[in-house]
Amino acid sequence: MSRPSRRTFLQSSAAATAGGVLLSAPSVHAAGNNVLKVGLVGCGGRGGAAAINALSADKNTKLVALCDVFPDRITKKLEELKESEQAAQIDVPVERQFSGFDGYKKLIDTDVDVVLLVSTPGFRPQHLAYAVEKGKHIFMEKPHATDPTGIRSVLNSVKIAKEKKLNLVSGFCYRYEPIKRETVARIHDGQIGKVQFIHTTYLTSDLWFRGDEPKWSEMEYQLRNWYYFTWLSGDFLVEQHIHSIDKAAWIMNGEMPIAASGMGGRQSRTEKKFGNIWDHFTVVYEYASGAKVVSQCRQVSGCYNEVADHVIGTKGTAQIMKHSIDGEGGAWRADEKKNQDMYQVEHNELFAAIRAGKVINDGEASALSTLMGIMGREAAYTGKRVTWKEIMESKQDLQPKEYAWGKNPVPASPTPGRTKFV
Ligand SMILES: NC(=O)c1ccc[n+]([C@@H]2O[C@H](COP(=O)([O-])OP(=O)(O)OC[C@H]3O[C@@H](n4cnc5c(N)ncnc54)[C@H](O)[C@@H]3O)[C@@H](O)[C@H]2O)c1
Repeated sequence: MSRPSRRTFLQSSAAATAGGVLLSAPSVHAAGNNVLKVGLVGCGGRGGAAAINALSADKNTKLVALCDVFPDRITKKLEELKESEQAAQIDVPVERQFSGFDGYKKLIDTDVDVVLLVSTPGFRPQHLAYAVEKGKHIFMEKPHATDPTGIRSVLNSVKIAKEKKLNLVSGFCYRYEPIKRETVARIHDGQIGKVQFIHTTYLTSDLWFRGDEPKWSEMEYQLRNWYYFTWLSGDFLVEQHIHSIDKAAWIMNGEMPIAASGMGGRQSRTEKKFGNIWDHFTVVYEYASGAKVVSQCRQVSGCYNEVADHVIGTKGTAQIMKHSIDGEGGAWRADEKKNQDMYQVEHNELFAAIRAGKVINDGEASALSTLMGIMGREAAYTGKRVTWKEIMESKQDLQPKEYAWGKNPVPASPTPGRTKFV
């Protein structure tokens, strides 16, 4: 087993900011005496878990406001949260429960200190922009947008958040997992030489479907079943496989590819109820150095499943999900006992930074990872080779003209060769 060098150790420590920037800021919450008030936007599975993480991270936090586009989701989540071990830290009276499309503004307008932005990804740019405008510390789930217009908005908000010294922790959780940090720090330390190739997979089974009810409008159907609509989820490459893309971006030290080409389609999710997303993609990302990242994702039940990242360098190889390195200096395997729950670490570091008057801002790296996913999706949808400059400047804006209950027609699932790059 090789031991970490001083450089690896230093880089591990640096990685403790998960690609974010640590600055000093005047703390109004020092010493943990003040109660930090937390508001949650998006009362779903991850939203509830993120709220528990936040309350567990700092005993002097209180969940004081909830928002979801649907009131029934708020009621259900609040009931669940009140059954949790953190129940004593929850105080969300009816007047601090906000539903509808503008509920997020009402929540952010309360005196919450920290907002957890955990709704469906299509809304993230506007939720983030308003939270930053109102000077809140933020935890924001991945992905951060579903189109390049949304990413440009996020990048602008990230810049303003930095100027205002607001914490912005991203839900790209692998970057917060101790033994993944150690594995990637070793790669950055040169233990497998220069990275030439990454093969990253996200091969899983079908996902949930939340039914259809005659009383639901088209918009309500789409929001209830948001995963299947590209404007809301970004397609499953951007919504789920984005973790793999982000790991590749992390390994590549934030360098973005110069171009991408890809293919895919929908073979099992063919019914209208499954909206317009695909069920499989393969994307090849090209780097200026000649390095490549090949990304494969599939969501079809009954097939071979695998989530892995195989990294090939000039002097060895690494497996990120197995936390292993086989390099010139010998083999290294992470001590799994040293690991911690990455979702909890995200919040521990967020609240510790707020208390210490420090600032973590993960926003830029995580917005660019999201754009890398969008780039791969668009390359596959159009059948074209898409450059980084083209995707950065793309005018694509998938959001509807207005958010209102009623009709909301969406484009058909893309056809490569015919679907145009915007
Ligand atoms: N980091 C991770 O490993 C991880 C794991 C799961 C989910 N997530 C992310 O968390 C987010 C939510 O996923 P989930 O699994 O909790 O989904 P979910 O469907 O369980 O919850 C999403 C909630 O957001 C609500 N919502 C939709 N539009 C809204 C709006 N405009 N305003 C307020 N609320 C709105 C929905 O009604 C729903 O209750 C997604 O971005 C997802 O990618 C991340």
